[in-house]
Amino acid sequence: MTEKFKIIGGETLKGEVSIGGAKNAVLKILAATVLVKGSTKIYNVPHLTDVDIILSVLSELGAKIKYNTEEKSVEVDASEISSITAKYELVSKMRASFIILGALMSRCKEAIVALPGGCAIGERRVDFHIKGLETLGAKIKIENGYVHAKASKLIGSDIYLDIPSVGATENLMLAAVTAEGSTRIQNAAREPEIIDLANFLNTIGADITGAGTSEIVINGVKQDSLHSAEYTTIPDRIEAGTFMAAVVATKGKAIIKNVYPAHLTFFNDKLIQMGASIKLVEPTTIEVSSRNRLNSINFVTQPYPGFPTDLQAIAMSLLTTANGVGIITESLYENRFMQVPDLRRMGADIHQDRNHAIIKGVKKLEGATVVASDLRAGAALVVAGLMANGETTVEKLHHIDRGYEDFEYKLQGLGAKIKRINEETMEVNPSVIKGGI
Ligand code: EPU
Repeated sequence: MTEKFKIIGGETLKGEVSIGGAKNAVLKILAATVLVKGSTKIYNVPHLTDVDIILSVLSELGAKIKYNTEEKSVEVDASEISSITAKYELVSKMRASFIILGALMSRCKEAIVALPGGCAIGERRVDFHIKGLETLGAKIKIENGYVHAKASKLIGSDIYLDIPSVGATENLMLAAVTAEGSTRIQNAAREPEIIDLANFLNTIGADITGAGTSEIVINGVKQDSLHSAEYTTIPDRIEAGTFMAAVVATKGKAIIKNVYPAHLTFFNDKLIQMGASIKLVEPTTIEVSSRNRLNSINFVTQPYPGFPTDLQAIAMSLLTTANGVGIITESLYENRFMQVPDLRRMGADIHQDRNHAIIKGVKKLEGATVVASDLRAGAALVVAGLMANGETTVEKLHHIDRGYEDFEYKLQGLGAKIKRINEETMEVNPSVIKGGI
């Protein structure tokens, strides 16, 4: 079904919004449930299409899934794993499915997983994942677009990552859980989602220390010692940052609940430099507001704890109408400025040269029809639509649905005029009945 958002810009966002579970933690934790010959129950699971995809991957391996969307929980019974193959049809829909490689190696010592290929935002190679598994003793063949990894046993080793890749750190951490001896991942990624995965793995019986630092040590344990457990995932820092930006963009004031402010330190600091106010109300509740035209800032995206690449496009929307000139350098991906042509169509003044963008603030954006080319570019265009004069249509919502649960409902709750429309029937989706335009 092709759907689009219609947004009438100019409303000041006010009220309260609660942030859901972190997509990029939940996907890996769900994959990690394969390690347990039994049931695990995960709470704070957002209802997203990416979650549906990882559950399909698990289901094809033979795991039994109970997804309770009301309770936001998923129970995975991985007592029986009948297949070791993750097909291209699923991995190509969501490259994070590649995480199943490390999980299957830990559980079965053999896995056949489709290579994800590139994606819209960049080449996104998996060479560190493969090289790391080989260091642990796996024999790897790449055949017909699939990685076939096999080992009679994995042996703990020192692994050095050329760059702190999130996915490679997670895949190797998973594989090393049941390796013989200790594995040390150096130059590991330090994202909060890595800590969450390590915490989950320790909850089921793994022995991991150092997650959240650049050296993670995994002391191998026996596969049979891993056990059933329940686990609640952390809140989504990128969803939180998106709502903070939407509030600030409309000179609004809102309470954001279920957020870990420590996960957003760099982003918060940049918002404050732009003129926003952020107050801690409770340990997991903040109040964000802004009254005046924002100031321009410069930033470079970096691995955590630097400025998150996943909030780069959304921050660019804020810069389009800020006072002065802002410069963004995207250092993680080759092609993550896909929102630029659409922001220009809304009147933004942006000069782009390879991975640098120079944004000269204009007084106001104008509504236009724009296309969500990927998840975060799509969210950035929604924020731009909320800021703009008149009506903005954001097409290809399936990208946004990968990572934002109930996006329009939550924005409507803050007073935004946004509704979802089915392009073929032109019918308004029930979201509008819940309190839309
Ligand atoms: N890279 C390699 N070789 C590898 C692995 C990575 O060259 O073997 C390169 C990539 O091409 C990329 C850079 O390293 O240029 C960083 O990639 P990383 O592996 O850290 O990213 P990822 O694990 O593929 C996760 C998030 C992304 C987020 C990045 C960076 C998930 C499911 N995805 O991707 O989230 O941008 O970390 O923080 O966790 C999103 O949510 O919109 C999203 C894209």
